[in-house]
Amino acid sequence: MVCLGNICRSPMAEGILRSHVERAGLKVIVDSAGTSGYHAGSAPDFRAVRTLKKNGIDISGLSARQFTIDDFDNFDFIYVMDTSNLINVLNLARNEEDKKKVILIMNEANPNKNQSVPDPYYGGIEGFEEVYTMLDQASTIILSRI
Ligand code: 4NP
Repeated sequence: MVCLGNICRSPMAEGILRSHVERAGLKVIVDSAGTSGYHAGSAPDFRAVRTLKKNGIDISGLSARQFTIDDFDNFDFIYVMDTSNLINVLNLARNEEDKKKVILIMNEANPNKNQSVPDPYYGGIEGFEEVYTMLDQASTIILSRI
């Protein structure tokens, strides 16, 4: 799961998909990263933590990191939150195989719409609620395809 800062959307996506995976009794490695390293080492934004806690998911222990080339080798699917993240990650791809792993996450729920998960960082808590609803929907579809 990849966004810009790895403190709002992608740690939420990590926690939400992991909770779906655990409820299904599957073994899937879920991780997240930011295309920038601005917040590396930081915990998720308190609004992201609070929104997920209300839904029974604890992401308070996560720590932000920057996306690296190794992630192309370590993961089968790389879900990005918006078109800017998509361009940044595709620019790091070494070959077609890397590129094929990169998917705009909302295209799982609404194919070919190229919808972005809006960046909630500069808004209020409602933005985080909206992100939760979108990512929970996408995670349900992702899980059904694993
Ligand atoms: P995220 O949100 O990409 O969903 O983690 C952001 C977090 C921090 C900043 C931008 C977006 N920032 O500019 O510091």
